[in-house]
Amino acid sequence: MRKDVRILLVGEPGVGKTSLILSLVSEEFPVEVPAKAEEITIPADVTPEKVPTHIVDFSSQEQEDSQLVEEIIKAHVICTVYAVDDEESIQKIKTYWLPLIRQVMPDDNSRPVILVGNKSDILEVSSMETILPIMNEYAEVETCVECSAKTLKNISEVFYYAQKAVLHPTAPLYLPEEKE
Ligand code: GTP
Repeated sequence: MRKDVRILLVGEPGVGKTSLILSLVSEEFPVEVPAKAEEITIPADVTPEKVPTHIVDFSSQEQEDSQLVEEIIKAHVICTVYAVDDEESIQKIKTYWLPLIRQVMPDDNSRPVILVGNKSDILEVSSMETILPIMNEYAEVETCVECSAKTLKNISEVFYYAQKAVLHPTAPLYLPEEKE
């Protein structure tokens, strides 16, 4: 069994990656957030799976693309974050983030991905209808979850699902058609 879990958060600027991390750690919504959260380690005894868990933020404001590639390689699971009220941030999951992760980690070495829809406090309607086709297209997407860093709804679940995807990976429900 793995002795630790490394979770990376990526996604468009402003979707709330840093807020999610700080909300998890402090159990309250941070009014002011830095561009990037420092890497944090959650000790084994306070994680659901009893494994030390590193949580890593990525900020395109402060970091280069080469660092992004490096972090993707080092991560065991990647939380790809969008904001439920920001259609463009959802489209970028499909057009940028998932293809990039695939390009960095080809087939036999893929990383599980969790799709995280933040800011669920803003919208009453769910983004799941838009997200499901993306899940179906990318077998590496393990789960999707809507949450709010502001109300703390589903915040601990996000990190629990991420941990679980590494420690107890599930086989895809169906295999995509064999490539030619
Ligand atoms: P970059 O560092 O630019 O990549 O942004 P980020 O993804 O880390 O987003 P950040 O945490 O800086 O949050 C961006 C803005 O969204 C801030 O004004 C937050 O207060 C706000 N925000 C974050 N999470 C939520 C949420 O759950 N609900 C609402 N209503 N606002 C949020």
